[in-house]
Amino acid sequence: MKLLEERIQQDGRILGDEILKVDAFLNHQIDPELMAAMGEEFSRLFANDKIDKILTVESSGIAPAVFAGLSLHVPVVFARKNKSLTLPTTVWAADVYSFTKQTTNQIMIDQQFLKSGEKVLIIDDFLANGQAVNGLLKIASQADAHVVGAGIVIEKTFQKGRQILDEQGIRVESLARVKAFVDGQVAFL
Ligand code: G4P
Repeated sequence: MKLLEERIQQDGRILGDEILKVDAFLNHQIDPELMAAMGEEFSRLFANDKIDKILTVESSGIAPAVFAGLSLHVPVVFARKNKSLTLPTTVWAADVYSFTKQTTNQIMIDQQFLKSGEKVLIIDDFLANGQAVNGLLKIASQADAHVVGAGIVIEKTFQKGRQILDEQGIRVESLARVKAFVDGQVAFL
């Protein structure tokens, strides 16, 4: 998606060898117009999949997921990382290890919001090592829901996320595919 690639070039910052900081428009300060354009693009990509629901993980997946839900006219459910007071004991849950943060979080979805047979689209901001999406796949499997694919805002193709999802036969659509950081610049696939 050209608009997104241009924005990454303009406002993204490279940290070390692997991290792209996009907090100026995606996961801290949020540009709603860019989000709306991305939501429409996800909607176009998955228009024929008869999606019932979108799944994501808090916190940075929520904004792109909501705009995709708006364009596809379906509800959005985000997995919680912390057990909230109002969350019942009847949850689908999976452990997610973050290579970036070196922590394990349990992610949870109230069982009433994900039912057997529902067709779901997973949306997330980054595909790096694939652990977040993998956790949502485990949850969907527990609920016997059908995952039609994963819509990713920024995929880093030099990490193993796509491979992990390919091995499970999951369709992945990424709006920007970063293949490398070269001389302080982001190179796209
Ligand atoms: P994964 O996202 O494919 O699961 O891989 P990984 O375990 O490496 O990612 C852990 C966390 O780090 C995720 O956020 C992910 O979105 C974020 N992340 C990975 N690569 C980058 C990057 O290049 N830039 C930025 N800004 N974030 C990256 P999280 O733990 O779910 O946190 P949250 O921000 O959604 O709360």
